Amino acid sequence: MSGADAIAGKRIVLGVSGSIASYKAADIASKLMQAGALVDVVLTRSAQEFITSLTFRSLTHRLVITDLFDANSEDPLEHVEIARQADAIVIAPATANVMAKLTHGLADDALSTIVLASEAPVLIAPAMEHHMWANTATQVNVATLKERGFNFAGPNEGRLASGAVGSGRLVETAEILEALGEILAANQDLAGRHIVVSAGGTQEPIDPVRVVTNRSSGKQGYAFAEAARDRGARVTLVTAASLANPAGIKVVKVESARQMLAAVSDALNDAADALVMAAAVADWEPISAAGQKMKKVEGQDRLTIEMQKTPDILAQVSGLPGIKVGFAAETEDLLNNARAKLEGKKLDMIVANDVSATDAGFAVDTNRVVILDKSGGQEDLPLMSKREVADTVLDRVCGLFSG
Ligand code: PMT
Repeated sequence: MSGADAIAGKRIVLGVSGSIASYKAADIASKLMQAGALVDVVLTRSAQEFITSLTFRSLTHRLVITDLFDANSEDPLEHVEIARQADAIVIAPATANVMAKLTHGLADDALSTIVLASEAPVLIAPAMEHHMWANTATQVNVATLKERGFNFAGPNEGRLASGAVGSGRLVETAEILEALGEILAANQDLAGRHIVVSAGGTQEPIDPVRVVTNRSSGKQGYAFAEAARDRGARVTLVTAASLANPAGIKVVKVESARQMLAAVSDALNDAADALVMAAAVADWEPISAAGQKMKKVEGQDRLTIEMQKTPDILAQVSGLPGIKVGFAAETEDLLNNARAKLEGKKLDMIVANDVSATDAGFAVDTNRVVILDKSGGQEDLPLMSKREVADTVLDRVCGLFSG
């Protein structure tokens, strides 16, 4: 995959700080849009002295963040959500002041807070007067940021706004996009692969308004889908959850286990390389759903609903293409139960999570899992974000592809 291809479908935060070069950020936003990115622009207070938010709003068709505490924002935690969803953060132009803040981990405005709250790679394109760039304080900050994994593009040598000639010019837009593309393409070990992911808790209808379901939020499955996409895979997400559709992913919405079976089978038949069944599929469904809303009957204190087993999706698709990764949600005897499912459902791998823990399993942002494989391997992972769990399991899936 080329660097330019890697930008398509990605969520890019474009941070703009206050410099005479701030106006050039409009071109960067425009080119990112043309490359197929979804662009969230964050302006520092001093950037707004040089360029207005209206410019970026017109270019990106999205709200522009100008303040950490924006009274007009519908979501007071908007910056945290943007930080979480970002595939990369580009700061262009970046002033000496912004770099000093990042070095010291300050979070006193929207941009510095988003960078601190995000796990996404950061690309910094500095622009400033050449004495500011050459100053030891700036150079020490740049060295520290590089050591911590921040990426830099420029600055270039040339004529500066002050009239002086020296190092401090913002690099051209094309160089910034090229550097960003390389960063995004760096870990593309799933390029060319089709990964199918299931997510959420299925809903089995009792009548037109009532369902039998479970506590799955879909977070673990969505984390898998986004991780696989970011590693270059074509992803089909079969979901019973109601989370927002992730960019760059084919989303197939389903409700019941039977619908999920049909959608997963279709996706696997579309040249799938792997299936990750993170969904919590109902084991039982009402034998027949009532056609009309069931009424309360005077004098009736109990209701019996006859249930039957749902189809076991993993067992039914075991003959279809692709490596099969299951999950085991257990509240007791984690390893024995998980291994029984690994063997019974003929899986390549199973990810066991103890869903009775308060910081793992359903609905929370973290998980603590044990990966078991069909060769008898066992890997106990510490408490991680669901995204980190996804990336670790995908590392093992890549191992199976190459091994
Ligand atoms: O969605 P979150 O809130 O982030 O929570 C994540 C999670 C706890 C739901 C997830 O980590 C998880 O454990 N998913 C699997 C839950 C589950 O249904 O486990 P199980 O042990 O009942 O099923 C074992 C495997 O068989 C699972 O991969 C399941 O998707 C699959 N299955 C189950 C029943 C069925 N009829 N068909 C299936 O394919």
